Amino acid sequence: MHVHRFERLWFGVSLVLIVAFIGTIIYGAVGPGIAMVDDSGGTVEPSVIADGNYEQTNNFREPGVYDTEDGVEVYVIARQYFFQPGTTEPIRVPAGEPISFHVTSPDVTHGFNLAGTNVNTMVIPGQVAEFSVTFEETGEHGIVCHEYCGSGHHTMEGQVVVVE
Ligand code: CUA
Repeated sequence: MHVHRFERLWFGVSLVLIVAFIGTIIYGAVGPGIAMVDDSGGTVEPSVIADGNYEQTNNFREPGVYDTEDGVEVYVIARQYFFQPGTTEPIRVPAGEPISFHVTSPDVTHGFNLAGTNVNTMVIPGQVAEFSVTFEETGEHGIVCHEYCGSGHHTMEGQVVVVE
């Protein structure tokens, strides 16, 4: 059977593309740096946080940095239009050890992206986004909300300060 030269070329090109696309999916699934919001973080009742009635919400009662025997745990509430903590006061964490973040939202979907790192997650109301990150160096990282969340979306930012 004779296959035209250009036809063969296009077969080749589309094969390369298919392999590349599958490669990006595999990279996303097993590679470094990409974590999906899943069920492991558990859920909280968004209205409970929204009401300022934190009693039922465990550590989101007082969001902040906790130094526990299991390591440093950071509880953050992302809301229209600030991170608590993060915006009015930076989140201070030590360098060189794993930091576990737990982030949730009482109102709408937000984003939590740490500039200069591969930390990037959606923050869905009622769902707790969890991830662990180790900062090798001291310094500052901006927190950016990268999901449109309302009229103040563009002002929603914060800061993580990595100290010795
Ligand atoms: Cu919060 Cu955009």
